[in-house]
Amino acid sequence: MKSLNLKTLLIVCACVALLAGVVQADPETERQTMVDYFQKKFPNVELAEFANGIYAFDENAREQWIEIEDFPPYEIAIEDGEAFFNTPFANGRGYADCFENGGIAVRQNYPYFDSSKGEVITLEFAINQCRQDSGEQPLPWMTGELAAISAYMSFTSRGNPIDVQISNDDSGALAAYAAGKQLYFTRRGQLNFACSHCHVQSAGLALRADPLSTTLGQATHWPVYRFKWGEIGTLHKRFKECSEQVRAQPFEAQSAEWRNLEFYLTYMSNGLEINGPASRR
Ligand code: HEC
Repeated sequence: MKSLNLKTLLIVCACVALLAGVVQADPETERQTMVDYFQKKFPNVELAEFANGIYAFDENAREQWIEIEDFPPYEIAIEDGEAFFNTPFANGRGYADCFENGGIAVRQNYPYFDSSKGEVITLEFAINQCRQDSGEQPLPWMTGELAAISAYMSFTSRGNPIDVQISNDDSGALAAYAAGKQLYFTRRGQLNFACSHCHVQSAGLALRADPLSTTLGQATHWPVYRFKWGEIGTLHKRFKECSEQVRAQPFEAQSAEWRNLEFYLTYMSNGLEINGPASRR
């Protein structure tokens, strides 16, 4: 019993030491370390391919997926999203008035840290903010109309390299990044797993029938039409599912915690191209 406690303590100490070290390094160095780690782990996978999740390295699943992409199940969401996007609010304004470049081809710049508000703004958060600023009700975060608008906005951004900005003298942005990173590496839930256990250490291995995707590329392609969901859903819907898999109490969609997590995760994919919306099984 005693040795077990000691062991547990040692593990906790190691984790804290690791995190402390991690928080001090700058995001760009950490991103490069992550890229190097996965390129070594998957020497046959080209960097750009990581944006395709498990299809980057699972040959059988990849064949099926390529066939599915001939008639993509998210196409209707793009069309619906475009129609929603172009429907004016009651006050005559519209989504295009809230975004740079009229909201076209801008997804690669999200999420960003808003220094005046002191918080991370994800694309979905900005869409609902836009509605509320015009006196409209916010939309549910994870599926439906909001996911469709997000899908359309991703579609217009395809091919643009992700460009999440974190300046090394922006203490607020650095703190949000560090909090997101900490969440990714902290054990949670009854099963006591961190995101990193599955998507860093065990990436490429199979959990039951599912091979596990890599951190690198996890944020490039949202929202996603998942056959298991039978609909299109946002990244935070996936966060919820992964949290529930380890029997952890999920945070709320678009909570500060999950926006920070998205900030970290998307920063790790900087330079990879937006390829959303996407299909996953
Ligand atoms: C017990 C293992 C496990 C843990 C822990 C876990 N996930 Fe997952 N995750 C999966 C599986 C299985 C899938 C589906 C296969 C895949 O795409 O990796 C998945 C998929 C994902 C995807 C979608 C990948 C894609 O290509 O669309 C994201 C994003 C993701 N997880 C993020 C997270 C985050 C963030 C956490 C921590 C809050 C987390 N996961 C914790 C098992 C896990």
